[in-house]
Amino acid sequence: MYKIMHFFIVLTFYYIYPNQHYPFSLDPLGYSFNALEPYIDATTMEVHYTGHHDGYVKNLNDALKDYPELQHYTLGQLLTMLDKIPGIIRTTVQNNAGGHQNHTFFWRCMTPKMNKPSNKFLKTIKKHFRSFENFKNQFNEAAKKIFGSGWAWLCFDPGKNRLVIISTSNQNSPITDLLIPLLGLDVWEHAYYLKHKNKRASYIDAWWNVVDWSFVEENYIKAASIKSKA
Ligand SMILES: [Fe+2]
Repeated sequence: MYKIMHFFIVLTFYYIYPNQHYPFSLDPLGYSFNALEPYIDATTMEVHYTGHHDGYVKNLNDALKDYPELQHYTLGQLLTMLDKIPGIIRTTVQNNAGGHQNHTFFWRCMTPKMNKPSNKFLKTIKKHFRSFENFKNQFNEAAKKIFGSGWAWLCFDPGKNRLVIISTSNQNSPITDLLIPLLGLDVWEHAYYLKHKNKRASYIDAWWNVVDWSFVEENYIKAASIKSKA
């Protein structure tokens, strides 16, 4: 059962990001650094994308350069087979493959073209969380409670066939735990400190204004459809 689930999660991830192989590289951002102003400031976006995210990519490539047997794996495969990675590079791969995956996903979760969840997806959210407000409150609490650096996530749990809200520490990815991310929020201080200083809640409130709900729903449809074929 675990192997079947593992296969479908990696397949889902590959379906969303088909080009992620060694040597890994930054995808184009898809909008300008100042496009998410005033909610996410241009300086933070530039430093985050060209500094932090690019650093994860370089560190991941560096870790894999002497391991040709690992170089044909996708990010999804690396992150769901950490126990198969040689111990000497395992933590480096976990941190930097996770950092690359999480940030690639994060940029796609945001858009300068403000939009709202479709009525159909709202029904799905209400089915799992009773109301949209309840969903948002639970997500906000998960994001605020993270001690230190980490991420808040809305995921599809293919084992339970339901939506779940979780948090991960550092750059850990939900897919390592066989959960398929639909929406992710970076709450590392590097994501908000320049504009929001130590006020994480202020950053979270601002971030909701730039969530790309069409991307979230698209992820849900892909995850649920692949699961239904499992
Ligand atoms: Fe980040």
